[in-house]
Amino acid sequence: MSRKLFVTTALPYANAPFHVGHMMEYIQADIWVRFQRMMGHEVHFVCADDAHGAPIMIAAEKAGLSPQAFVATIAAGRQQYLDGFHIGFDNWHSTDGPENHRLAQEIYLGLRKAGLIAVRPVEQFFDPVKGMFLPDRYIKGECPKCGAKDQYGDSCEVCGAVYTPTELKNPYSTLTGATPVLKSSEHHFFQLSAQRCLDFLQQWTHEPGRLQPEVLNKIREWFATDEHGHVGLSDWDISRDAPYFGIRIPDTEDKYFYVWLDAPVGYLASLANYCGKRGLDFDKLLADPALEQVHFIGKDITYFHTLFWPAMLHFSGRKTPDKVFVHGFITVNGGEKMSKSRGTGISPLKYLELGLNAEWLRYYIAAKLNAKVEDIDFNPEDFVARVNADLVGKYVNIASRAAGFLAKRFDGRLSADIGVEGRTLLDGLRAHRGEIEQLYETREYGKALREIMLLADRVNEYVDQHKPWELAKKPENAAVLHDVCSVCIEAFRVLTIYLKPVLPALAAQVEAFLRVSPLAFADASRALGAHTIGAYQHLMQRVDPALLEKLFEPPVPAVAEAPKPGGEDMAPTISIDDFAKVDLRIAKIVACEHVEGSDKLLRLTLDVGEGRTRNVFSGIKSAYQPEQLVGKLTVMVANLAPRKMKFGLSEGMVLAASHADGKAHPGLYILEPWPGAVPGLRVR
Ligand code: 2FM
Ligand code: ZN
Repeated sequence: MSRKLFVTTALPYANAPFHVGHMMEYIQADIWVRFQRMMGHEVHFVCADDAHGAPIMIAAEKAGLSPQAFVATIAAGRQQYLDGFHIGFDNWHSTDGPENHRLAQEIYLGLRKAGLIAVRPVEQFFDPVKGMFLPDRYIKGECPKCGAKDQYGDSCEVCGAVYTPTELKNPYSTLTGATPVLKSSEHHFFQLSAQRCLDFLQQWTHEPGRLQPEVLNKIREWFATDEHGHVGLSDWDISRDAPYFGIRIPDTEDKYFYVWLDAPVGYLASLANYCGKRGLDFDKLLADPALEQVHFIGKDITYFHTLFWPAMLHFSGRKTPDKVFVHGFITVNGGEKMSKSRGTGISPLKYLELGLNAEWLRYYIAAKLNAKVEDIDFNPEDFVARVNADLVGKYVNIASRAAGFLAKRFDGRLSADIGVEGRTLLDGLRAHRGEIEQLYETREYGKALREIMLLADRVNEYVDQHKPWELAKKPENAAVLHDVCSVCIEAFRVLTIYLKPVLPALAAQVEAFLRVSPLAFADASRALGAHTIGAYQHLMQRVDPALLEKLFEPPVPAVAEAPKPGGEDMAPTISIDDFAKVDLRIAKIVACEHVEGSDKLLRLTLDVGEGRTRNVFSGIKSAYQPEQLVGKLTVMVANLAPRKMKFGLSEGMVLAASHADGKAHPGLYILEPWPGAVPGLRVR
């Protein structure tokens, strides 16, 4: 029976490029989706940028961009990762899209109609300089218990104490340094503490097969105490006050949905957007009881996806997710926390730029994955061993051992009449189809690949026994050689089907080489029979460990080429007393003329409010005409010792800005005070 699936991965925050953790989740989900398609099922696989929230708003501001423009720059970088690692989303959207605004508001109104929205005042820290309520992460202060400085608003990193931001001593806003003040405002709550919510969630989470056992255990703990340690579930604060980058709450002027309210709605919004592009009926598709809704997520966001999200959907009258598949994190080199500077992380883009094959990583990650919520570790030696010994050594090798003889001796024709031994081998391979399908279905990819490699071992043993390279030496063995090589190619085709969810690009090359249409799981049970294959071209290289080492080299810190502002180093530091020795005054240019015999100087007559004028020669002729300057105010050094020049006495100096390299950068700019300044005022 054909299934209809709606599959998502968690929506990444639109404030940073992807890291290897994102790629792991996408690879896990993509393998599952490709498997389902190869089973003949209909799959809609979507994702989107999670665009809203205070951190993105603040990051945009720092970048000098509107939040929309900021998010767009991040979104523009997504495709190269997705294409690079063969992640086949049908659609990529944004939670700031119009579909999400509409759907989030509809869901909220549904919850309100169900009587599950409460409005009550909440007192919170407010940054009076920034004019905004401060999310906890932007408040620091002294630990109320041990007094350690610069601790975050929720817990102390020094003594481990847990508290609320209002308990901090001498709190300050990390945005402005201002002392936050307590301020009250109305907040909207989703009343998850209502008995009917608890009842619904008890039943929903315990539905057999819906959640992994360890996830269910965690949820049982949450039913006993919520994330803040209260008994039972507490109401969920879903509103934030302006300024906030988000979706406005209906019937309010200045309240927005908390980002986590509209983020999962983004799953539906991306599907709606995709339906629009494909001419599909979104409402009909989503309401179809046959549609299975499946979310792949990381363990850190289980709470949102197994409590808040199903309750939001259910109480607004919608279908709830059928499955939430939770995975662990990816660590590198034995669980070291990933850090770019220490070079223990893996940059997905660097991986591709170094020319490492994306399917090696897909294969390696798949080999490590299972259906549990376990962390997996990327270990470089293990990576090289699995790819070189298993993927290339066992699987790819089968084709290369047989294809040459078929091409040279039999024009690429496969034997239609395979002997008993070969058939037994092939039947054995085919017999594992159901088991391998089941392993993919249950996300036991590691087990599936082990199983497939054991089958590859059998094929290699068969080759070793029959030694086609020996058979090829004697013309009378041609029939046996043809049989053995045909068996190898047919076995290779079956193994390719089994590996295709993990290795889609390689499988496409194999399909071209075998001259077959796109392979599905059912094709494993059908023999190719008399068929002519194409010429073999090498399918996959082994990993060069040196290349992998490069991946782990810490990025070379950009040679700190100290910028030279204006073409010169800053002058050595002076004290305020040194500066005070320079008497800068506002001067009025009462007259100005060319200096005969000089192509650089202008003669200025300056009034510095002393009841007399001064004569100053200034090298600004290249930039100004005398008539441009007359009547203007400027700044002069008024206590410079008078200097006798060829053309007369200069009693001071006017200030002008210029580049150290006047030839390359000839601009010259005298200073002009703001309106209101008068001659004689001191500049300090
Ligand atoms: O944790 C995160 O990265 C969130 N942006 C995930 C959101 S998933 C869904 F709810 F949108
Ligand atoms: Zn402390």
